[in-house]
Amino acid sequence: MFQRMKPTKNNEEPLKDSFERRIDYLRISITDKCNLRCIYCMPPGGLKFFKEKDVLTDDEILRFVRIARSHGLRKVRITGGEPLMRKDIISLVSSIKKTGIRDLSITSNGIKLSKMAGPLKQAGLDRVNISLDTLDAGRYKAITKGGDINKVWESIKEAERVGLTPVKINVVPIHGINDDEILSFASLTFDKNYHIRFIEFMPATCNGIWKKDKCISSEDLKKKISALGRLEHLKFRGKGPSRNYRIKGAAGVIGFISPLSDHFCGLCNRLRLTADGKIRPCLFSSIKVDIKTPMRNGASDDEIDKLLCEAVKVKPQRHLLNEDITSAGHLRAMSEIGG
Ligand code: 5AD
Ligand code: SF4
Repeated sequence: MFQRMKPTKNNEEPLKDSFERRIDYLRISITDKCNLRCIYCMPPGGLKFFKEKDVLTDDEILRFVRIARSHGLRKVRITGGEPLMRKDIISLVSSIKKTGIRDLSITSNGIKLSKMAGPLKQAGLDRVNISLDTLDAGRYKAITKGGDINKVWESIKEAERVGLTPVKINVVPIHGINDDEILSFASLTFDKNYHIRFIEFMPATCNGIWKKDKCISSEDLKKKISALGRLEHLKFRGKGPSRNYRIKGAAGVIGFISPLSDHFCGLCNRLRLTADGKIRPCLFSSIKVDIKTPMRNGASDDEIDKLLCEAVKVKPQRHLLNEDITSAGHLRAMSEIGG
């Protein structure tokens, strides 16, 4: 299907930050554009998107992945905006996989995925996360400002059919928006091996609707879901932020991602690369390291490598959202960084 290429060099040290965390997971936002306008992510009028020339090209993304790969990077997630808005997505997936990435996934809103799931799998994609915050068609339209839920379900089914599994479904529970659907989402795991991941609603400057009392903590969700059966804790937390459970006897998994109520920064193993070529070592920090300008000014691989190592070294120990909610101001819109 696809041939693995050797990373450029393989003799380099693993990336370790100043707090001894090993960094081996990269989230790459390949576009900030999106075909939806989810109320918790973007302002209703949309955003001023990056100019085409400011977005990293395939070659620039691949160059960065190869350099990170030489430090043992194993896991890559492609995000957006909506990553399937990028025209060259299939060949980009194929090229990233060929650098030797073991676990390559994508986070999509599922609107365009049904037709692309097969080709993406062929290109070497391992898994998908699909965002879905309601099971009701009318409410979906309202939350996403116009999206068609049927397309999302077609995509979920197609992803299962072609083996982009386990299909993970990202749900952001918000008081007064979808809090009456928690049990319906959890019940989807009874018959199907879906991984339902409840993500605490996070603040960003442009999502004007964020208020602390709109967030539903993972503890509250867990209590609610226990009405469906005993929640068994699953050991495979992996290195990710999700705490995973299974309702006794169910086929699927329920995960809780609690950036606010139980921050998991101590286990953080990730870096982010924005569509306009900045390394962001932490979602909620203003620190950005530009790699696009040096790349376009002729920097060598060693010079880019130095910038990568620098970005890792300045990764903050943890976010400060619980002490100072204004620190969320560094995050203008989730769509710019891909969550
Ligand atoms: N809080 C929590 N999750 C969010 N996402 C987007 N905005 C927010 C927010 N404010 C999620 C989307 C998607 C993922 C990329 O990030 O639901 O699944
Ligand atoms: Fe688009 Fe995802 Fe943001 Fe919704 S959450 S507007 S699908 S980027």
